[in-house]
Amino acid sequence: MGFFNRVFLILALLSVELTPSSADSSSSSREITSIFLNHAKKKEVFDWMVGIRRKIHENPELGYEEFETSKLVRAELDKMGIPYKYPIAVTGVVGFVGSGEPPFVAIRADMDALSMQEMVEWEHKSKIPGKMHACGHDGHVAMLLGAAKILQEHRELLQGTVLLVFQPAEEGGGGAKKMVEAGVLENVEAIFGLHVYPDLPTGQVASRSGPFLAGSGFFEAVINGKGGHAAIPQHSIDPILAASNVIVSLQHLVSREADPLDSQVVTVAKFKGGGAFNVIPDSVTIGGTFRAFSKESFMQLKQRIEEVITRQATVQRCNATVDFHAAGKEPFTPPTINDKGLHGHFQSVAANLFGSDNVKDMQPVMGSEDFSFYQEMIPGYFFFLGTKDETSGKPASVHSPYFKINEDALPYGAALDASLAAGYLLELQTRSTPSSRKHHDEL
Ligand code: NI
Repeated sequence: MGFFNRVFLILALLSVELTPSSADSSSSSREITSIFLNHAKKKEVFDWMVGIRRKIHENPELGYEEFETSKLVRAELDKMGIPYKYPIAVTGVVGFVGSGEPPFVAIRADMDALSMQEMVEWEHKSKIPGKMHACGHDGHVAMLLGAAKILQEHRELLQGTVLLVFQPAEEGGGGAKKMVEAGVLENVEAIFGLHVYPDLPTGQVASRSGPFLAGSGFFEAVINGKGGHAAIPQHSIDPILAASNVIVSLQHLVSREADPLDSQVVTVAKFKGGGAFNVIPDSVTIGGTFRAFSKESFMQLKQRIEEVITRQATVQRCNATVDFHAAGKEPFTPPTINDKGLHGHFQSVAANLFGSDNVKDMQPVMGSEDFSFYQEMIPGYFFFLGTKDETSGKPASVHSPYFKINEDALPYGAALDASLAAGYLLELQTRSTPSSRKHHDEL
């Protein structure tokens, strides 16, 4: 038999053998999804998730201070008999469900709140003045615990191990980066991350393949001149004028240097200098943020921001220093780029759960997410779960003091988290059919 005929025969045999097994995998993936959703919708499971979410909502904790939230997570995992690692990155917890053997797949929930005062008047309003779960991370924790319960009770269906990643400090603290540094993703094949979305109706999800959320960075610059009497400018070096020109020049970076089809932002949001009507100050401090959808564009912006500030300042005889670490936040968060291979998996699992009409493709969003630190290491997929509160008019956005979520979405999120992970393990098993491969290699 000629070489090509042999290859053809092998391919034909492979396809005969693989077709039924991949059909099995998609039908059992569909079955798993429906079993999981029914489980998540049980009244006792729903009430339990709502209770957890409300308890966390009443006691919001900021990044790296999520001690009570983390304690609650561990107490629930203990009750379910799920082993976990703690502490990771101060308050982080990673639970393990399934065989304990590879392959490993991860689902992530962030646990931190924001420093802002809740303005929603309801029974479970934040009890901590100046702190609020205004980004729905309380719901993320409740849904991941819901997924944990579903997966643990159906662990015989898992073809490997699911990691339940409860991370601290998403809101600018780079908690995901610290989790990665602690080795959480070792040997993990893929990671999924859910975020609530108040503009999307409950019962819908949205995401996209490729660049989804922007990378973000912060900068602060001090522009030094020489103070003096405002009526005698010739004896001073005016940092206010220099800073004003710096800001105008910074606005040319996106409009004149970036590809118009490659979305970017530079915003100066802070300007501090001077305190009197008749005194030229010694210095001015400005600060802001920059965003881009690729690492190259992001690094280019960073370099040009520094050059423009320092060089433009010298035009007015000032000197300037630029600091990218001064904001007290994680200085750089990479763009959130969804893996193309996982996009198909997400769409098919989500369509099984919600119906394909309710799985929406979204335009990229200029906000950022530290989930991107995981995606820098392994294939990852980030998506939005509809949590629109249909009882009010225009829903308040995330980070608004009026932010609310529709708790009816909790079972959907729990079932989706659990189905994405269990379905992915099934898909991996189908892909690697070691016994049939061995058989064919012997031909
Ligand atoms: Ni958030």
